[in-house]
Amino acid sequence: MTFPESFFRRSTRELVPYEPGKPVEEVQRELGIERVVKFASNEGSFGPFPAALEAMARAALELNRYPDGGAWALRNALAERHGVRLEEVAVGAGADGVIDCLAQAVLDEGDDVVLGWPSFPSYVIDAVKCGATPVRVPLRDHRYDLDALLDAVTPRTKLVFLCHPNNPTGTSNSRAEVDAYFERVPDHVLTVLDQAYREYIDDPDYPDGIEEYFRGGRRVIVLRTFSKIYGLAGLRVGYGVGPAEVVTEIAKVRRAFDVATTAQAGALASLGDEQELERRRAANAAGRVQLERILRSHGFEPAGPAVANFVYAETGGDCRVLFDQLLREGVIIRPCTGFGASGGIRVTIGTPEEHELLDAALGRVLVAASS
Ligand SMILES: Cc1ncc(COP(=O)(O)O)c(C=O)c1O
Repeated sequence: MTFPESFFRRSTRELVPYEPGKPVEEVQRELGIERVVKFASNEGSFGPFPAALEAMARAALELNRYPDGGAWALRNALAERHGVRLEEVAVGAGADGVIDCLAQAVLDEGDDVVLGWPSFPSYVIDAVKCGATPVRVPLRDHRYDLDALLDAVTPRTKLVFLCHPNNPTGTSNSRAEVDAYFERVPDHVLTVLDQAYREYIDDPDYPDGIEEYFRGGRRVIVLRTFSKIYGLAGLRVGYGVGPAEVVTEIAKVRRAFDVATTAQAGALASLGDEQELERRRAANAAGRVQLERILRSHGFEPAGPAVANFVYAETGGDCRVLFDQLLREGVIIRPCTGFGASGGIRVTIGTPEEHELLDAALGRVLVAASS
């Protein structure tokens, strides 16, 4: 069966499907390796909170019913937590789902979206899907260059994405830099401040976008997710806090029941356990130090300072070579070609034992490569 090219939408012709990290089971099957460790998707090594597991088990008994389409309980709890109104909270199937809906709500052909690059590919994909043009502004020293981003804004620009911290480089911008950006950004632009990794960061110089910019009256939608520190990546729940008008427009384009009952219940039950969050934050910070040390010991300089649950390094060549070599050792890392960095690798922080396996695998691979 064939379809003429004209059958499919013009705007998506140049896109390639998003390339997710390779699943462990696939590598085990393909290569016949039993012990496979994955550092390729930034979900991290913590599982769901026990309260979330219990809430999901309870919610599963009601799965014959459709979910609460308005996600009232979850949005209410998030609104209360962040000191905003319910009408200012949009939930979606991951922060990714919110980005997708936001693009659909805002972008038309002829509109521009400005973003740093390399960065999170959905900003580009979702803009292109809508016929809008992504304007990629090169990073400087692996960090978003906010002045250059502002220079790229034109009357056609509708959205500016600030990936904060940036995926894949793991670096962030300081409060002073983001403050200065908001002083200068023109009024016709909506800034998307993507803080998917916010809960990993306790640096007092890292601004809480909801508290400091949205509640401070800036024209911004701030993104958060339950996929990272809350250990619920498989559940698909994220949210945005932004102007009520934008949240209403997002509600127009989202599918009626895009956040499952179990997802709403699991997310809701994850809120409020500050002690566990602190424990995970500290473990992640210690893991990051260990991972950076391992990468340095093999001659890779991690981009920094890295603040999230992953580390980025340039390989000095095609990142797929190292990716393939490590894969054969049962270690899955992320080649960053799809993020716009064909020489970069991204490694998610794992457990100390997983780091040891990475260390040993890197040793074997690099010795073999040099002999
Ligand atoms: C910067 C950034 N934003 C958004 C997301 C999407 O997260 P999710 O859709 O799992 O909530 C990710 C996931 O890796 C990310 O790195």
